[in-house]
Amino acid sequence: MNQENIKKLKQLNLSNMASYYQDYNDVSEFMSLDFDSKLAVLLDYEINARHNKKIAVLAKKANFKIKPDLTSIDYSPQRNLSREMISNLSSCVWISQGKNLAVSGATGTGKTYLVSALGYRACMFNYKVAYIRVPRLMLDINISKSDGSYNKLMNKYKNVDLLILDDFGLAKMTAADTRDFLELIVDRNTIKSCIIISQLPISNWYDIFFHPTLAEAIMDRIQSNSYKIELKGPSKRGTLQNDIE
Ligand SMILES: Nc1ncnc2c1ncn2[C@@H]1O[C@H](COP(=O)(O)OP(=O)(O)OP(=O)(O)O)[C@@H](O)[C@H]1O
Ligand SMILES: [Mg+2]
Repeated sequence: MNQENIKKLKQLNLSNMASYYQDYNDVSEFMSLDFDSKLAVLLDYEINARHNKKIAVLAKKANFKIKPDLTSIDYSPQRNLSREMISNLSSCVWISQGKNLAVSGATGTGKTYLVSALGYRACMFNYKVAYIRVPRLMLDINISKSDGSYNKLMNKYKNVDLLILDDFGLAKMTAADTRDFLELIVDRNTIKSCIIISQLPISNWYDIFFHPTLAEAIMDRIQSNSYKIELKGPSKRGTLQNDIE
């Protein structure tokens, strides 16, 4: 009977439920439950397993380079990081409102770490996230112009719920890069969220763009609807080892 049930659960694509049923069939704690409770345990197991699988798929697609947990964020006073703000951001309501987040701080202050944790949190809320370094993004866009995949690439980054642009401002942008950047920001503005990360103070971001008018158009959109985090303190590099690669 038990083997027949397991087969049928698998036929119905309820393989998580099937494996729980198989594993716990001789565990007295589970077997002593009444029918409703047993069914509830099995259903919860299936739902949780599917949810976790979905988060893992979203996180893989997001392409994070590190996968930290928000609980491991360091709130030492010298970091200038508000626990309250991170708690607000971790609710992900700001993503449903299409708000942005601008993060600045010197090298090694933990910008990528913090934002990756927020990005992973967004995956847990079923949001589609993409993480990319700006130099890589601009390179990919330029390549896509010559192989005909420009629209596809731009649509990929326009359509995710949360776009994380790391290492912004390492070099001044060309006119073409600035226009492409503007197009991404304009199309996402107020509908979908962006996190922009840079070593430069936010007030210096204007200078990265090719032309002051374009800089104004981009910065106005980023700034008018955004949270700001300016990380301070010493570099955390070399003191802790949490990187995936
Ligand atoms: N809260 C933290 N807990 C543990 N490790 C951390 C924490 N924050 C940062 N780190 C570690 O410190 C190092 C530097 O962090 P990170 O790469 O996020 O810095 P960054 O500000 O993005 O630097 P850069 O501007 O050079 O990219 C990494 O190895 C990271 O894993
Ligand atoms: Mg970084």
